Amino acid sequence: MKTKKKIIVVLVLFVGFVNAKAQSTWVAPKNADVISNPLKNDQTAIKKGKTLYMQLCAVCHGDKGKGDGVASVALNPKPANFMIDKFHKQTDGAVFWKLTEGKPPMASYKESLTETQRWQLVIYLKSLKK
Ligand code: HEC
Repeated sequence: MKTKKKIIVVLVLFVGFVNAKAQSTWVAPKNADVISNPLKNDQTAIKKGKTLYMQLCAVCHGDKGKGDGVASVALNPKPANFMIDKFHKQTDGAVFWKLTEGKPPMASYKESLTETQRWQLVIYLKSLKK
């Protein structure tokens, strides 16, 4: 009986730990902040970024970037909402780093997208606001 209780306690702690990990915020390393955006003043970048976004990202992050895409219901953690201040407070470099590296359930786009395409996406995401 005693061991059974112990097992239950361990299980509860484990589930709590996994949950806490899943809920904790995703933070890019400090050195990502200094990666500078080569397309900063490129006006066509937003349009190109939007096209890529609709093809690749909207399924999870939603058409408007609210994190409510059709696939989002099944996901934990939930896809990020690009309308909130917390997202916009990050540097372009941090956002670039995140979509380069990925984090399950989100893929890494290091291989499937060029650097230019990733920057176009960063610029598009940063242009989104309520
Ligand atoms: C399979 C669903 C899925 C797809 C497709 C997807 N994402 Fe994500 N994305 C996520 C999830 C889930 C998170 C939240 C991860 C976390 O916080 O742990 C996330 C987080 C992010 C973040 C971090 C936001 C922040 O403030 O921390 C960025 C940036 C991002 N996604 C960009 C993109 C871009 C750009 C694309 C398309 C090229 C894309 N994602 C495609 C699921 C997805």
